[in-house]
Amino acid sequence: MINLFYVSISGNTRAFVKRLCAYADQQHAKNADAYQINAVEYSESVDVSIMDHPFFAMVPTYLDGGDGINNGYQEVMTLDFRDELDAGNTENLLGIVGSGNRNFNAQFGLTAKHYARRFNSPVIGLFELRGNDEEAVKIYTALTNYQKDFEQRGVKRALTH
Ligand SMILES: Cc1cc2nc3c(=O)[nH]c(=O)nc-3n(C[C@H](O)[C@H](O)[C@H](O)COP(=O)(O)O)c2cc1C
Repeated sequence: MINLFYVSISGNTRAFVKRLCAYADQQHAKNADAYQINAVEYSESVDVSIMDHPFFAMVPTYLDGGDGINNGYQEVMTLDFRDELDAGNTENLLGIVGSGNRNFNAQFGLTAKHYARRFNSPVIGLFELRGNDEEAVKIYTALTNYQKDFEQRGVKRALTH
């Protein structure tokens, strides 16, 4: 089972997670070894024990002010989720999936990249808005590869040791 902890403000990420879980279920029906996904959406009252086991995080990008790269980076909307991750055991955080809107150019998916440094975990993929089937296959494959790698080695792939 792959654990996925995510946040969705306007519903795009939620819609993508639904597609991703449906794809995982399909793969699992064909091959019992294929992982299913246990997805938990962040809310103020959610049980965050998903972070007590190896898990992945998925976060859309919400920035306010500046261009996020050269002049200021102010994360908005996802700060409570970030606080939860801060408070959790990020030794269990195997990787981060990011999302956003490509209209933001270099700022596309930037929050995932910031989290990568903050939590010393790799960005394992990005998708746009509600995503599509092709992105679901790509992200599922990346999740599977990182999960398998962790199960074989017993340690997460950190950016630095
Ligand atoms: C105020 C605001 C700021 C945003 N800033 C960025 C950004 O800097 N980079 C990016 O890739 N997407 C940005 N987005 C797009 C969102 O990340 C995108 O719509 C995403 O799919 C929202 O996910 P959700 O519906 O699950 O909350 C922004 C959207 C809003 C409303």
